[in-house]
Amino acid sequence: MKTSEVRKKYLDFMQERGHVIVPGSPLVPENDPTTLFTGSGMQPMIQYLLGTKHPQGTRVSDSQKCFRADDIEEVGDSRHTTLFEMLGNWSFGDYFKEQQIKWMWEFLTKELKLDPNRLYITAFGGDEQAGLPKDEDAPRVWQELFSSVGIEAGIADMGSEEVGGKRGMKDGERIFYYDSAKNWWSRAGVPENMPAGEPGGPDSEMFYEFTSIEHDTKWGEHCHPNCDCGRFIEIGNNVFMQYLKQEDGTFKELEHKNIDHGSGLERLVAATNDSADVFTIDVFQDIIKPLEQKSGKEYSDVQYQASFRIIADHLRAAETMIEEGILPSNTEQGYFTRRLIRRSIIHADKLGVPAGELSNNHAVKAEELQFRKTLEKGLKEFNKIKELEGKEITGHDAYVLFTTYGFPIELTQELAEELNIGVDIEQFKKEMQKHKEESRVGAEQKFKGGLADTSEETTAYHTAAHLMLAGLRKELGDGVTQRGSNITAERVRFDFTYSEKVERDVLDKVEDYVNGAINAGASVVVEEMDKEAAKESGAVGAFWDKYPDIVTVYNIKGSDGTVYSRELCGGPHVESTQDLSKFGKFKIKKESSSSAGVRRIKAVFVAE
Ligand code: SER
Repeated sequence: MKTSEVRKKYLDFMQERGHVIVPGSPLVPENDPTTLFTGSGMQPMIQYLLGTKHPQGTRVSDSQKCFRADDIEEVGDSRHTTLFEMLGNWSFGDYFKEQQIKWMWEFLTKELKLDPNRLYITAFGGDEQAGLPKDEDAPRVWQELFSSVGIEAGIADMGSEEVGGKRGMKDGERIFYYDSAKNWWSRAGVPENMPAGEPGGPDSEMFYEFTSIEHDTKWGEHCHPNCDCGRFIEIGNNVFMQYLKQEDGTFKELEHKNIDHGSGLERLVAATNDSADVFTIDVFQDIIKPLEQKSGKEYSDVQYQASFRIIADHLRAAETMIEEGILPSNTEQGYFTRRLIRRSIIHADKLGVPAGELSNNHAVKAEELQFRKTLEKGLKEFNKIKELEGKEITGHDAYVLFTTYGFPIELTQELAEELNIGVDIEQFKKEMQKHKEESRVGAEQKFKGGLADTSEETTAYHTAAHLMLAGLRKELGDGVTQRGSNITAERVRFDFTYSEKVERDVLDKVEDYVNGAINAGASVVVEEMDKEAAKESGAVGAFWDKYPDIVTVYNIKGSDGTVYSRELCGGPHVESTQDLSKFGKFKIKKESSSSAGVRRIKAVFVAE
């Protein structure tokens, strides 16, 4: 099947079962500073899982583009990609486990006609430490479904992935219990890593068996669904989103039990084609085929396969990012666009694709030009290091070549190999690890302070951000739109479109506007309405073509009728701007350039 066919089949299937199909969200989350990219379909749904009413009702489905930066280094095998599309359906306090599992069975075996003999299931084995019980229901429902087609599905306890590898699968076993590391889902991972206020739940994953793949013992003595050898590939996850982590570390049941289902579209397509290699599906072959011609190399040639895969994934991801306005740069999201393109170029060189022919995308071409200049400088630096070091490139040098000159480690290794000198890879890895940990600390801090924590301070900053945007538009015109925000309990960082520096006297006026609205004790009133009507009424939004048909508009309105702000948003917000006054006066601390045509403001509340 083609990718577009499977996507359509799924969305039609969900629509027929009462779901409203909503557009996916942008790759850069609009109001979620907990993460740089949307990495799963549920991220934009978090408020609704926590209980806010979704304007489209209790059954929603979409196809969400996701980017997982952590997987960059994994790309090259048969199934890892950084960008993928996640097909998702959600029940916000509507149907639950049994219904979800039955629909999945129907979709996979009837709509996609996947062979049930090759379907394997995992379920949550419980977490004693966190006081979370084993899921007895999901395996029972699955067992009944298998039995309906004459398959006796045995249930087994695996525990951890490691134990699974030692134990393997016994005859007739098809449903496997694993621990929290495998069958628990939350944005923050396992139960103990979740901050208070974060929702999560046990899950039941579906795996497809690619019988052409022989288990390789380098991944463990025996094969099992969660083994990494590639024989079993996860094609979907049903999360029973029913718990909330509390301040004291225990879990309570959410008022509404939710379903959060996600399936990687590309993997599903590969399964329908019985191909264990996800890069054989149309969307990747469309990139690979022309490169085969330009390079004279073939994808089927194993020595080139990894390079073809890396380029196919990275180019597709980079071009999608560029489409969404994330141009290559040295900071935050744009840094990933840059890395993806640069890695593609290195691999295109390996394949012998002529310079400049990798992609027709303008931004990719511009980046290539710049990178080739950097490469030249890097090569000079490399030669200097080589002379200094004599026989070995130290880990630190390799690290500097990577961070300063954009030299991927493979390139350094290759150049060194040609000269018959070594590279201290162990030390390089250590330096990279240190670098990663530092950035992770940053990410964790963001997580705690994020808008999603719904703490009073963060919510206050979020409401203030709306007022600030309204103030900016009043002073600088309606051409100003939001380009992203990052809101923690300590400050708001806000990007908006404007081509020149905003002078201090203008910033003062914007501050006055925000503080004026705070002093007026304006109320925050939420309205649900038709998208077109919202647009006509002058509500502010930055992604009109991405919004669903029915939207939520947040109005900040004074008792005298003054409308201070009217903006599309998913919340949360304070009820009255009076709630902001206790944090002090709103102050714009800094205004600077963020990228071409985009300015960035940092603002805080200063206690009076
Ligand atoms: N949140 C789950 C996942 O990302 C299911 O959508 O796998």
